[in-house]
Amino acid sequence: MTSVLHRPTDDTKLSGLPEDVRARLQDRFKLVVPARSAADPSPSPMLEEAPSNPDVQPIVSLTNVEKIYTNGSKALTGVNLTVNPGDFLFVTGPSGSGKSTLLKLLYGYERPTKGSILVGDEPISNLRGDRLAMMRRRIGVVFQDYKLIPKRTVAENVAFVLWAQGFTRKEIHRRLWPTLKMVGLQGKAQCFPDELSGGEQQRVSIARAVVNTPPLLLADEPTGNLDADNSLQVIKILKKLNSIGITVIVTTHDEHLVRISNHPVVQIKNGRLHHLRR
Ligand SMILES: Nc1ncnc2c1ncn2[C@@H]1O[C@H](COP(=O)(O)OP(=O)(O)O)[C@@H](O)[C@H]1O
Ligand SMILES: [Mg+2]
Repeated sequence: MTSVLHRPTDDTKLSGLPEDVRARLQDRFKLVVPARSAADPSPSPMLEEAPSNPDVQPIVSLTNVEKIYTNGSKALTGVNLTVNPGDFLFVTGPSGSGKSTLLKLLYGYERPTKGSILVGDEPISNLRGDRLAMMRRRIGVVFQDYKLIPKRTVAENVAFVLWAQGFTRKEIHRRLWPTLKMVGLQGKAQCFPDELSGGEQQRVSIARAVVNTPPLLLADEPTGNLDADNSLQVIKILKKLNSIGITVIVTTHDEHLVRISNHPVVQIKNGRLHHLRR
């Protein structure tokens, strides 16, 4: 699977971000990439060419995962999947095939019936309470229906995440504006969700998902409610986030979106996962 670690990248891709946000993003990568030896003078892993070390630690790793819901509904079976830091992965498949279940397992909303799920080196399926909450801070999630707080402005919806995580006012301010700018919504900061188009609301929800610079972003049918132009815009933003080092896993049943990009694709059919493009 292609990885940003295997692509030439440079510092300029991070230049839109404040210094500390950039440092934090790089720092988070150290959580999921093995430390380099003292003899190796290469800089941060996300800013360099492919490392010769084949043992890059995956950011997501599923082994023989099965999910049967309590009502007996079998959603996933025998799922094996490895996603490396910096990957951009499309997950396709018909409605009811298990795409949302896969993402829910990855952010610990559901637990597998069998098998193991690692996010970084943490077995997310075993985490509870505070440890699960801390883990979720490292995973941004975007939903088809945006899930914005209706009585809060765009700025408040995005800032709320940082506030809830104990960031200072100054830090919130420093992160909020570049993030809104990145999704093209700095001019809508004081609007309420019902004053925005669907595409704009989805861009707010992306800003909210990444404002604390998680290394992993999960997007569940983020274009499901959008027209073609807005869908493209959303995918473009996800690609931009991927180009600065965030690992992106996006589910979609829009074959056109998958066809026009060259990212790896897996398909889930009847709960089983197949690699369509590596
Ligand atoms: N909370 C749940 N309880 C019981 N069955 C569920 C639940 N969520 C999903 N399912 C079932 O699991 C299967 C996969 O659903 P889902 O992961 O939502 O598919 P997709 O996102 O691909 O449309 C479906 O058969 C669905 O009915
Ligand atoms: Mg779904």
